[in-house]
Amino acid sequence: MSECKVIAIANEKGGVAKTTTTLNLGANLVRKGKKVLMIDLDPQANLTILSGYRRPDKLDKTITTIMKKVIGGVSFENTEGILENKEGLKVMPANMELKSMETNLLSAFNKEAVLSRYIKQVKKDYDYILIDCMPSVGLLVINALASADSVIIPVQPHFLPLNGMTEVLRTIDKIKAFINPRLKVEGVLITLANMQTKLAKATVDTIRKNYGRSIKVYKTIIPMGIKVAESGIAGKSVFSYKKNSKVAMAYEEFSEEVLRDNARTRNARTTECR
Ligand SMILES: Nc1ncnc2c1ncn2[C@@H]1O[C@H](COP(=O)(O)OP(=O)(O)OP(=O)(O)O)[C@@H](O)[C@H]1O
Ligand SMILES: [Mg+2]
Repeated sequence: MSECKVIAIANEKGGVAKTTTTLNLGANLVRKGKKVLMIDLDPQANLTILSGYRRPDKLDKTITTIMKKVIGGVSFENTEGILENKEGLKVMPANMELKSMETNLLSAFNKEAVLSRYIKQVKKDYDYILIDCMPSVGLLVINALASADSVIIPVQPHFLPLNGMTEVLRTIDKIKAFINPRLKVEGVLITLANMQTKLAKATVDTIRKNYGRSIKVYKTIIPMGIKVAESGIAGKSVFSYKKNSKVAMAYEEFSEEVLRDNARTRNARTTECR
């Protein structure tokens, strides 16, 4: 059985650091010796750009190419379309073409399972596959959630983003009920936090109080920090750009939490099997 873990990073709310979290979790796991593939499933192609590929429109092959092959029953190589940047980070890129995929999927056979057919073929090559989702619920996000073992939900500690979190939890419940019963919430990650403000402190308390018993809310809080925005412009992870910055240290702690949780689940599974 494959030990690869497939994690979607999702929230219907825009600008809550989904892409930043995908990139920096991916970069940190690679630094720890894990084999990681990041999939850009957003036509905005921000993950592709942040990984250092500034002109996604110039790319020959993207996730759209591969999904079209899956739909058409055309075979593909496991490494096809995957780019590896200077940090050793592997990304299946996207560009604006992916927008048309929502329409292509409508007439595809088993339209929710196109991405999962791709992932099923390549997952034996990786320890982690991270899927960066777009900020909406359409067939692409449904494909991501149908392929994933779990979801990380980044949330900004403000009132409206909190509503976005409720929405995404509802979507996850529906996907579990109808398409992918094994889907779990990996955890809620508080991002872009300015913990000096009363609003942020109150919102974090509310999240922990209202959700903390039923779903994991990571101890780590990702603070606001200019270095992560600068690292994006440089096309690097924050570890490669400024590894001693407070955001880099927070993403390091967060990655440790993700690894610890995964080790715990694996141990539990091994014990159950005995
Ligand atoms: N910890 C942080 N401190 C400061 N700026 C941040 C931080 N995390 C992310 N940002 C900035 O916030 C903006 C939104 O981040 P990001 O693109 O990761 O969000 P997103 O949820 O993927 O957005 P979208 O919904 O559009 O896909 C970016 O400009 C990014 O550089
Ligand atoms: Mg994004």
